[in-house]
Amino acid sequence: MGEFYSRYANPTVRSFEEAVAALEGADDSLAFASGMGAVSAVILALCAHGDHIVAQRQLYAGTLAFLQGPCQRFGIETTLVDGAEPGAFAAAVRPGRTMVVLAETPSNPRLDLVDLDELGALRGPIVVVDSTLATPLCQRPLDHGAHISLHSATKGIAGHNDATLGVISGEKELIDSIWSYAVLHGATPSPFDALNGLRGIRTLSVRTTQQAGSAMVLAEVLSDHPAVSAVHYPGLSSHPQAELAKRQMRNGGTVLSVELAGGAPATRRFLSAVRLFRVATSLGGPETLVCHPATTTHASLTADEAALVGVTEGMLRISVGLEDPSDLLRDAFQALD
Ligand SMILES: Cc1ncc(COP(=O)(O)O)c(C=O)c1O
Repeated sequence: MGEFYSRYANPTVRSFEEAVAALEGADDSLAFASGMGAVSAVILALCAHGDHIVAQRQLYAGTLAFLQGPCQRFGIETTLVDGAEPGAFAAAVRPGRTMVVLAETPSNPRLDLVDLDELGALRGPIVVVDSTLATPLCQRPLDHGAHISLHSATKGIAGHNDATLGVISGEKELIDSIWSYAVLHGATPSPFDALNGLRGIRTLSVRTTQQAGSAMVLAEVLSDHPAVSAVHYPGLSSHPQAELAKRQMRNGGTVLSVELAGGAPATRRFLSAVRLFRVATSLGGPETLVCHPATTTHASLTADEAALVGVTEGMLRISVGLEDPSDLLRDAFQALD
């Protein structure tokens, strides 16, 4: 694809795309300057004025803002459904008008899941799955029949909190048609970030195995702490979709969210007391990061929208890093105390 100009193709970016395609079991992949670059380019490549999208309510707030802002302004209508409810996507599809079905599983920040087999069985629209929180080693949406697997590679894939990158994978013909639009959209990744993405892939397996193991330890232990009213983690048997998690994910992933019984004041005290956890909004890197979604990543939601997707004032999202889990627990305990 024309390596005469880096917006069209670049050998370092191409190496990153080939590595992701291999991980996803895909014909081909296409990289972008960010996860949002991937989301916006895919939707604008596939939809025109008058078209319809079915998306889940439990979406990363930037994706939701894109659907409700620019897409609406361009006459692309979106129906939001509860992605965790069986049959919800199929019921909202309008034959001939729905061009894209957009799901995110696990969802950010409450770790709700969408049944990938159910998505793969949909006929008509292009099914796009944002699989960022799982990484390609934990789940492969294409194996279940989805058309496009999408990642903010800023997160687990690049994996070191030092790159901004997005990537999609799917059948060559579909990726080629999105590429024809993407070169005009211009959310082109830098070769430097793609190199950091390739560097991240070299250790993706050891990092995510360690991180998911530690996330499970934190989820189990924090579930029993009196200051914690709920823990959301797909690896826990108490997760409402634990069976689905076992069917489609290799482990519970590297991210969990907890709700503190003391609500917003308790989260503020926790965030100012932690010493090993770092207070920051990204996820998937080597350092354990904690954030308060209601005032950061999901601050753009109205109170009603936040209530519908379960982003509460007492919720903290934790991206588990590579530290020893016993050190993390010690820090969590002293901050909760
Ligand atoms: C699930 C999910 N998708 C997409 C994005 C957007 O990615 P980026 O920040 O790389 O644009 C994020 C960012 O947090 C995310 O969590």
